[in-house]
Amino acid sequence: MKFVVPNIDPQILASLHSPSLVVFADQVRANIDRMIATAGSVDRLRPHCKTHKMAEVVRILLEKGVTRHKAATVAEIEMLADAGAKDISFAYNPVGPNIARVVELVRKYPDVKLFVTTDHPAPLRQLSAAVAAAGLSVGVMLDVDVGLHRTGIAPDSDAALQLYQAIEELDGLTPAGFHVYDGHQHQESLDERRAAVLSEWPKVLDLKARCEQAGLSVPELLCGGTPTFPVYAELNNPAILLSPGTGIFHDVGYGGHFQDLDFVPAAAVITRVISRPTPDRVTLDLGNKSVAADPPTGQRVYFPDLPTAAQVIHNEEHLVLETPDAEGFQPGDVLLGIPTHICPTSALHQDVAVIDHGKLVGSWDVTARNRRITI
Ligand SMILES: Cc1ncc(COP(=O)(O)O)c(C=O)c1O
Repeated sequence: MKFVVPNIDPQILASLHSPSLVVFADQVRANIDRMIATAGSVDRLRPHCKTHKMAEVVRILLEKGVTRHKAATVAEIEMLADAGAKDISFAYNPVGPNIARVVELVRKYPDVKLFVTTDHPAPLRQLSAAVAAAGLSVGVMLDVDVGLHRTGIAPDSDAALQLYQAIEELDGLTPAGFHVYDGHQHQESLDERRAAVLSEWPKVLDLKARCEQAGLSVPELLCGGTPTFPVYAELNNPAILLSPGTGIFHDVGYGGHFQDLDFVPAAAVITRVISRPTPDRVTLDLGNKSVAADPPTGQRVYFPDLPTAAQVIHNEEHLVLETPDAEGFQPGDVLLGIPTHICPTSALHQDVAVIDHGKLVGSWDVTARNRRITI
């Protein structure tokens, strides 16, 4: 990965608030083109919107011909549907009041094909009762656990087949395939990642075969994230759809770890020096309410103009850098940083400034950062 961000005209930079997030629309389009090229066809992609949560990015995807989309929250589904998406996988098991929210989504967007996931019969039965009582129907994917052990059901278990059968039998529900997410596959080398993915894959194929022998249709295998979708893309299986998220903006966490990924940073944080408390310290207005704090302390953002500075304090509204180059910085100076983890960083910002081919073209709302839009 090239840890660089495009140059921003100094006058534009001076006008942008800090802390804030800027998105480079031309880089976003280039990353989407790379995703499509890796997938082999636009029809094999079902990108996850959790990275950007922005209707404007969904519109770019739709313009590029990406018709299938993936979400992790009810608000993301509303954002996608309002932006014009017609085929949405809610890759999250609805439980509790989210069951009624799913019914509401189906009612509000009758022309949207919506799928949810399941890995347990109890909420599945509740979903069936709620959907059927409303006279509606929804697709359900079996959430298959290929080793992440976060959600899902072991593909080589009898319970997996029984649960998929239950989807077919319960009112208002239709079997929609398997959800196969593998966020634990973090091998640096693509060869090792491929070997790890392929060692689990026969269990998925075997479950698919068992379901089909039982007369059940398995129309889709929804696989992978940014590090592994290139591996699934190599498999010649028409049921496979690919669900990368992060690559659309990319970040230092993935770019530093996975050298084979050819995405470029398309989002950066803008921050200013607010203090020089000691000769070797530069204090920025980039606290953990502006850049995601789930990476380890000291590694939450990368500054191309200060690559070796140590991040010694990270509070809610302050980031303190220690560097022998500190004397070159004065209060008011601007820095651009590439987040280590872009997805939760996007969600910290209400809107983003948008630069396209060097021009400031407006701002985009981070629509689905809210937990609730209307439903
Ligand atoms: C279920 C699911 N699918 C797809 C993705 C996208 O993965 P990535 O961010 O590696 O592109 C994620 C990421 O968290 C996820 O949880």
